[in-house]
Amino acid sequence: MTANRDFAAQTVVVTGGESGIGKACALALGAAGADVALTYFADSVAGEDVAQTIRGAGGKALAVQADVGSETAVEALFAAAERAFGRPVTLLVNSAGLNMKNIPIADMTLDRFDTVIRADLYGPFLTCRRFVRGLGEGGRGRIVNISSIHERAPRAGGAEYDSAKGGLSQLTATLALELAPRGIAVNGVAPGMILTPMNQSALDHPDELKAKEAAIPWGRAGRADEVAGLVSYLLSPAADYITGTTVTIDGALSLTVALGA
Ligand SMILES: NC(=O)c1ccc[n+]([C@@H]2O[C@H](COP(=O)([O-])OP(=O)(O)OC[C@H]3O[C@@H](n4cnc5c(N)ncnc54)[C@H](O)[C@@H]3O)[C@@H](O)[C@H]2O)c1
Repeated sequence: MTANRDFAAQTVVVTGGESGIGKACALALGAAGADVALTYFADSVAGEDVAQTIRGAGGKALAVQADVGSETAVEALFAAAERAFGRPVTLLVNSAGLNMKNIPIADMTLDRFDTVIRADLYGPFLTCRRFVRGLGEGGRGRIVNISSIHERAPRAGGAEYDSAKGGLSQLTATLALELAPRGIAVNGVAPGMILTPMNQSALDHPDELKAKEAAIPWGRAGRADEVAGLVSYLLSPAADYITGTTVTIDGALSLTVALGA
């Protein structure tokens, strides 16, 4: 992609920026000139490392510890970004999230359900809300929420994750409708299998990776930088007329759902 290179004079908040897709987004946007406030959850070294890489390449970056499911933490995150870079946050990437754990609903504790909904759905609700409030009257901006192909394709044992991502899809669409008259775009990105720590088991076990990749029509899993390229495009002026939709990036994996019946 070539149209997404210039994010100068933009401040972006990237949640989950210390790892995987969020990290790739933070690095791509920082390299393209955005001032980056990225969150880390538990790994301060990883978060600071991403910020340092952006700064080392001449950019501006700040790593902030935040649990995105906490209203107070989200407020502190945006306040820190506004203070550090001297302008409202104009771009938002919600990548922080937890995966399913293969637990049937009958065995799932409320605490487990709550933990994932809080990270994967409350988190984007809180950051989107603060983003809009921070922009104020007349402020324009763009949001990308990282969802999943499982927002529509459920997996047995994934009720907490599938529910969170299904909800996120509707949050994205509803907010896009509310904000379109103000010129604020809100889109989702739904990845299939991407090789990040969320797929650590496949990364560690070549046989598992091979079996999973065999099920993907494109013949391989995706990379975080490929998702970051799509996110960068959706945040760029070239994507001006795109809002309220979720773009799938999965090597056609989600098209195979009902095959073999
Ligand atoms: N990797 C995939 O195959 C894949 C596929 C579809 C969707 N996704 C989505 O992409 C996003 C990024 O995942 P990834 O693959 O980069 O995984 P990852 O595990 O590398 O990154 C997720 C990050 O979210 C952070 N996090 C978790 N809970 C948090 C919380 N409450 N507050 C703040 N941060 C929190 C983690 O610390 C981690 O850094 C997730 O929303 C995930 O659901 C990933």
